[in-house]
Amino acid sequence: MNNNISLFDGLTEEEEQQLLNHATSHEYKKGTIIFNEGDDSDSLYIIKSGRVKVFLHGENGKEIVLNVHGVNEFFGEMALIDEDPRSASVVTTEPTKVLILKRHDFESYLEKYPHIAINLIKVLVNRMRLLTMITGNLALLDVYGRIVRILISMAKTRIDGTSIVTERLTHQDIANRVGASREMVSRILKDMSMGGYIRFDNRQIIILKHLPSAW
Ligand code: CMP
Repeated sequence: MNNNISLFDGLTEEEEQQLLNHATSHEYKKGTIIFNEGDDSDSLYIIKSGRVKVFLHGENGKEIVLNVHGVNEFFGEMALIDEDPRSASVVTTEPTKVLILKRHDFESYLEKYPHIAINLIKVLVNRMRLLTMITGNLALLDVYGRIVRILISMAKTRIDGTSIVTERLTHQDIANRVGASREMVSRILKDMSMGGYIRFDNRQIIILKHLPSAW
């Protein structure tokens, strides 16, 4: 069996299966909060199907999205490692099935298979890079610039030279990712659409031509 869980790269299938034998599985409906920022916990989650969003709550129902995790990715490693409360909240954005590993089992495997620690460090470095980018975008770009960055980072190029953001995002979803109000995002997207830069198709955004770095 090949699970393609990058955390376990370098382990034989047998070793990987041995570790997963200690895991319990759980299914969540779309929109379920798996845990909240500040919760105590000793579990690591590996996504077998579905998708989750990592976010922080603000005042008046505001939120900022820090990350999105999909199949074979994991979350919950931070509180597992430092035993502090959860650094952020996690909600399912699709029906999601996870494998849950307890700290004790995970730690004993870390000692036995240093490969897992190396894989873990790589993912943490990657998350740090993403966070650096988010911080830079929030501090250095205006809302238009942040929207452009997020659209480009999520878009796939098509044969005709246009690009498509396949994930169906509401204006509120985009607002939560760029740290702006929904109203402002709607206004900017409308301007971009009227300028012939983007088009909406079945709640997907098509990027029709190069987006200027400033509006
Ligand atoms: P933990 O702090 O246990 O709970 C929230 C989880 O979200 C965290 O572990 C990580 O697994 C995951 N996460 C992914 N990206 C981030 C991020 N940028 N900041 C905080 N948590 C993140």
